[in-house]
Amino acid sequence: MKIFITGGRGMLGRTLSRHWSADHTLFIADLPETDITDAKGLGEALDRFAPDCVVHCAAMTNVDRCETEREAAFRLNAEATAGLAEACAARGIRLIAISTDYVFAGNDSGDRSEDDPIAPATVYGASKAAGEEAVRRLCPNHIIARIAWLYGAGGPSFVHTMAKLAADEPKRTLKVVDDQVGNPTSCDAVADELTAVLARPDLRGTFHMTCEGTVSWHGFAKEIFRLLGYTELTVDPCTTEEYPRPAPRPHCSALSKAKLATAGLPAMPTWQEALARFVKSEWPSA
Ligand SMILES: NC(=O)c1ccc[n+]([C@@H]2O[C@H](COP(=O)([O-])OP(=O)(O)OC[C@H]3O[C@@H](n4cnc5c(N)ncnc54)[C@H](OP(=O)(O)O)[C@@H]3O)[C@@H](O)[C@H]2O)c1
Repeated sequence: MKIFITGGRGMLGRTLSRHWSADHTLFIADLPETDITDAKGLGEALDRFAPDCVVHCAAMTNVDRCETEREAAFRLNAEATAGLAEACAARGIRLIAISTDYVFAGNDSGDRSEDDPIAPATVYGASKAAGEEAVRRLCPNHIIARIAWLYGAGGPSFVHTMAKLAADEPKRTLKVVDDQVGNPTSCDAVADELTAVLARPDLRGTFHMTCEGTVSWHGFAKEIFRLLGYTELTVDPCTTEEYPRPAPRPHCSALSKAKLATAGLPAMPTWQEALARFVKSEWPSA
């Protein structure tokens, strides 16, 4: 298959390339050579490569920066996504667009399903929600894959931040937020699921693709340090109020994956399994 990966040098894009480069022909569409906000250049790149499928990872992903750079966030996450959806539809290309738990406000407990109404509470979430809406409206042959709490080879991610803090000072005491919960998800787990999606051209619609199981950042940090072997590091729980950020963070980002089974797609691994595999490959000497 010929696959065009936007944001192909980002954290998820790099993992997808690694998973797919042996079996598929890939076009890595990333800055500076390919700017997806340039509709003409994007169209020309699509015409030259003539992909069977576009996997859309490019996004403005810094949630706090989006709050102060609203226009830039919407230009990339919403307008460029709409342009890409239109370009794919016009050329009969399947579009797999990566989205986020931030389309939900995350104020309620319990797992959100794909059918639950969205209610973004941040500029990032609103811009990604507008991108989702454009994909649904403009490109019928689409998959929207919502992911969350992502980490992958090379980072940057929460796992890498924790690993660095521990490596710098292995006997320290850290405070980590305990009143926000979600589904930590490895890029490898997303890549495995999307590989199954590639083999199912009949599938369309929105799917949640986060790892199974829910934990707080505090619990996630403790498991990272345990796997890395930092036995003398103490992790104390703290509240969101003790760690204020420019953009509000969801208290519950947990997503239901029941629809994957209904569609005949493989189950996602648990977050503990995926994290253990990742730590082994990223820090083999741990
Ligand atoms: N990271 C998470 O925790 C998380 C959680 C939920 C959902 N997601 C979604 O997952 C997807 C992938 O995330 P990620 O963490 O892999 O993102 P990332 O590491 O920030 O990668 C995004 C890539 O897109 C590139 N890009 C930016 N503007 C572009 C443009 N105009 N044209 C072409 N490429 C452009 C970036 O280049 P520069 O680096 O040069 O800007 C970067 O290489 C995104 O859609 C994101 O919204 C991520």
